Amino acid sequence: MSCHVLILAAGQGTRMRSSRPKALHRLAGLTLIEHVLRAAEAMNPTTTGVVVGHQATQVQAGLVDRSSLRFAVQSEQFGTGHALLQAAPMFQGQRGTLVVLSGDVPLVRAATLERLVATHERAKAAVTVVTAHVARPYGYGRIVRTEGRLTGIVEERDASNAQRQLKEINSGIYAFDLEPLFDALHEIPRGGAVNEIYLPGLVTIYRGRGWLVETIEVSDPDEVRGINSQTELAEVRRIVRQSKNEELMAAGVTIEDPATTYVDVDVTVGPDTVIHPGVFLEGRTRVGARCELHAGVRIVDSTLEDGVLVNNHCVIRRTRVAEGAQVGPFAHLREGTVVGAEAKIGNFVETKKTSLGRGSKASHLTYLGDTSVGDGANVGAGTITCNYDGVNKHATAIGHNAFIGSGTQLVAPVSVGDGAYIGAGSCITEDVPAGALGVARARQVNKTEWVGRRRDEPDS
Ligand code: UD1
Ligand code: CA
Repeated sequence: MSCHVLILAAGQGTRMRSSRPKALHRLAGLTLIEHVLRAAEAMNPTTTGVVVGHQATQVQAGLVDRSSLRFAVQSEQFGTGHALLQAAPMFQGQRGTLVVLSGDVPLVRAATLERLVATHERAKAAVTVVTAHVARPYGYGRIVRTEGRLTGIVEERDASNAQRQLKEINSGIYAFDLEPLFDALHEIPRGGAVNEIYLPGLVTIYRGRGWLVETIEVSDPDEVRGINSQTELAEVRRIVRQSKNEELMAAGVTIEDPATTYVDVDVTVGPDTVIHPGVFLEGRTRVGARCELHAGVRIVDSTLEDGVLVNNHCVIRRTRVAEGAQVGPFAHLREGTVVGAEAKIGNFVETKKTSLGRGSKASHLTYLGDTSVGDGANVGAGTITCNYDGVNKHATAIGHNAFIGSGTQLVAPVSVGDGAYIGAGSCITEDVPAGALGVARARQVNKTEWVGRRRDEPDS
């Protein structure tokens, strides 16, 4: 049977108190809605749609990478049932099962959705609702059962005191038989404390018609946590963090303090890598085996090969660090940096669009921008590439085994040939040929006994 997916994400998310649409809040490197889409993907749905409304343009812009996605617009948000109704044209003439998901329930697993569809189709149910038993059901719709069968879902704000005690909740995830769905939706009355068209109201209608209403329960209620506030977002973030850290530890990574280790879902880390407290690994970062990442390191969209050492408090972004290289402490490697094997970037060094060859060193207090450094070169303390003339950026080339004396300024565009030396304190404005010594500094003058003479002069 063909399977379709629709994600409801038109609501305002008032309780977030944020100008960012709720669906685009970030959770471990992905937006909330991206988490939901990934789970849905596993079912290979024929159609994947999203209902947008509040800040629709922003939400759609946040999903541009997903070209096959369909959108329905709910320009005024009159509730979840009303939201689903807006997608009627999308499923015109379609048969099969429609899985409805919430843009704010991001941890649902693909396996659960597969089980939902399988149970629903096997039972030939009109609707199957995913439920969970939770310790603190506050805020969720409660599952009301009569003789064990689901007969209705009652929202927190509409529930009686007795119903509020119920611990089984509606996850907001459903499978529907498409055929009668959109006609039936018209029959949900506006109602409840907020006068909305509640999608769960369909359960009551279906039961009234004697149609089969099924449920499946997830054993881990964390999987269906909804996010309505910043606090709930933080709680879900903690859950994701913990499971990602557990996944890494199961694969042989040493994490000294999982409570303060923040690894985005798409990050990979090789075995025997040691991660000290307060480390952030973000985006599409890949860390090899046997690396050591000291406290306070943040790595974004970067690749570290095996055996890389990153000392405390480094920021590394869109950078590649080859095998056995060392970085930091307090280094800032910016976009387009490539650190060669066994190379060393020391403290207070900043790089941008710069490559360092095998075994090269920039150990202290240096800025390298738009620079290529060959193998075995030594960039002395306090070297600065002057790559910007106020309008354009210019390149610096430093050859293999070159030696740049401390305190050198390299005014780009400029090159230093293989094996060349630069005298400390030079301001290099012209190319230095291979094997040459370039010195560009004022000669020193010593005025002998100058201090004594100065003291003897009468005050003026
Ligand atoms: C909803 C369910 C509740 C369930 C809970 C699970 C209803 C009436 N209640 O409550 O039973 O326990 O989810 O998390 O369905 N949305 C729209 N258009 C609207 C309103 C909402 O697209 O007009 C979207 C929201 O963007 C959100 C989802 O639907 O992604 C759920 O809406 P929300 O307001 O968060 O419902 P809850 O109060 O959490
Ligand atoms: Ca919600």
